[in-house]
Amino acid sequence: MRVFLTGGAGYIGSHMVKMLGERGYDVLTYDNLSSGHKEAVLYGELVVGDLADKGLLRKVFSSFRPEAVIHFAASIVVPESVEKPLLYYRNNVCNTLNLLEVVKEFGVRYFIFSSSAAVYGMPKEVPVKETAPLAPINPYGYTKVVDEKMLEDLAAAEPDFRYVCLRYFNVTGADPEGKIGQVSKRPTHLILRALKAAKGELERLEIYGTDYPTKDGTCIRDFIYVNDLVEAHVLALNYLLEGNKSDVFNCGYGQGYSVKEVIAAVKKVTGRDFEVRETARRPGDPPVLVADNRKILERLNWQPKHNDLEFMVKTAWQWELNRRF
Ligand code: UFG
Repeated sequence: MRVFLTGGAGYIGSHMVKMLGERGYDVLTYDNLSSGHKEAVLYGELVVGDLADKGLLRKVFSSFRPEAVIHFAASIVVPESVEKPLLYYRNNVCNTLNLLEVVKEFGVRYFIFSSSAAVYGMPKEVPVKETAPLAPINPYGYTKVVDEKMLEDLAAAEPDFRYVCLRYFNVTGADPEGKIGQVSKRPTHLILRALKAAKGELERLEIYGTDYPTKDGTCIRDFIYVNDLVEAHVLALNYLLEGNKSDVFNCGYGQGYSVKEVIAAVKKVTGRDFEVRETARRPGDPPVLVADNRKILERLNWQPKHNDLEFMVKTAWQWELNRRF
């Protein structure tokens, strides 16, 4: 099967490319390398291009003739989306629109979309279900809501077109073989920052808020291992191929760890101590964000294998110590 991936040179996309490549899919990565790395693309062709460039997209579609599209490429830094909202609407909405126009033109029938728990904003009920109100609290989350809506409307108008939106919770970890992993020039994510502190690349780690209504006062997140997440994409694609209707699924383990628990796990796994400073809350952080994952477990028969914080941190630490790029 020919699968076209946007953002296949990025963190999650490159793990997807590797899994599909290992399983014999014919993959093509389309990535502008704004945050991705060409070394991360271990299978198939890499076309360095931008989703703004519809001419190039058409050219690639007409030669590769994809049967399915998996759309990872997006801007993902929440605080940056608050400072530069138009950049986020341009990249996440306009460029997704370009892609969907080309998808429609070429009659591609199956589409998997990287959505985010950010669509829920501050959910009233946790674990949060897919049916919870979509109430993002930042431009990043709004762009994902608009993309999901575009997909819903397109599928309603085009009976042959079907999609799955996967709403990612906190993705972490790296390829256990150490070939690929997360790379970020200015990391904002908790585990990566903690690893940088363990490595001595950050002077200290700050905890953003210790007065939340949680067991230890710090925020709680649902961390999901990157390979369990990309496996969900394979299942979602099969689900569509079997003739099921378009749908939306949470991707998380349904279990949360507090910021303090994560820091303790990082210290244990790395065997290194580092300074941790308790500071003020970061605006826009929901106290608890945990997935209700019953839908994906039941409908996609998703069987996550690595619901184990220390395992996830260990793979990320190995990558951080022995990065290839
Ligand atoms: N945190 C710290 N110190 C740090 C970094 C993070 O205390 O140095 C805390 C944050 O305040 C938050 C938790 O760790 O409470 C997790 O923060 P991350 O930045 O790692 O992840 P988020 O939960 O903010 O972000 C994730 C996804 C986003 C998505 C969002 C939805 O990465 O794409 O969930 O709320 F939009």
